[in-house]
Amino acid sequence: MNIQHDITIALTKGRILKEALPLLASVGIEPQEDLDTSRKLIVKSTVPGVSLVILRGSDVATYVRHGAADLGVAGKDMLLEAGGAGIYEALDLKIAPCRLMTAGPEGLGGDDASTRRVRVATKFVNVARAHYAKKGLHADLIKLYGSMELAPLMGLADEIVDIVDTGKTLAENGMAPRELIADISSRLIVNKASMRTRHRSVRIIVDALADAVTSKTSA
Ligand code: PRP
Repeated sequence: MNIQHDITIALTKGRILKEALPLLASVGIEPQEDLDTSRKLIVKSTVPGVSLVILRGSDVATYVRHGAADLGVAGKDMLLEAGGAGIYEALDLKIAPCRLMTAGPEGLGGDDASTRRVRVATKFVNVARAHYAKKGLHADLIKLYGSMELAPLMGLADEIVDIVDTGKTLAENGMAPRELIADISSRLIVNKASMRTRHRSVRIIVDALADAVTSKTSA
């Protein structure tokens, strides 16, 4: 891979990284250090000029929007929440699939039919606000940073908006999924300015990953 500019790719620890690394490796981009053991947040890759930064999931879009990273791999859930300004969504990487859903205590309804209000705990406040507004409900939003499933159990909220993968976390906490908001997978995003100023290098990486996704999904 002949990259002519310095390119930074923002990645996120956890399940997205687990699936993103083999995909990047299949196009020749591999971290020069073991990300599981290294505490470094920026590592060089095996492709000269290409570095990898490891961020929290919600920060990938921020780094790419501001051009601190040229490319990023982020869940569609984070992108929906963050909004698309300054970011070009280049590719559906078809990894880390899951669903963004509302959920609540099993056997109970969500909103208070008399007031059309619902208390919603979530880290996806923008997505949740839009979703309930579309239904004509007023959502009292409570921003949480994790363990959303706990909120209805503790009387903090009627419903949550969260990622559902296997559904195990909900089930084990006496909750059930209710409405699907969006099907989620990880996307390759590009800073809009990098798309112009580093076009050749960005294009090489985007095209290589597009081919890798196609051959993986048609295999
Ligand atoms: C997500 C989500 C749920 C869980 C759902 O959390 O917030 O808690 O996964 O998965 P399941 O349907 O397979 O049980 P994650 O582990 O990604 O950590 P987070 O709390 O940082 O989002």
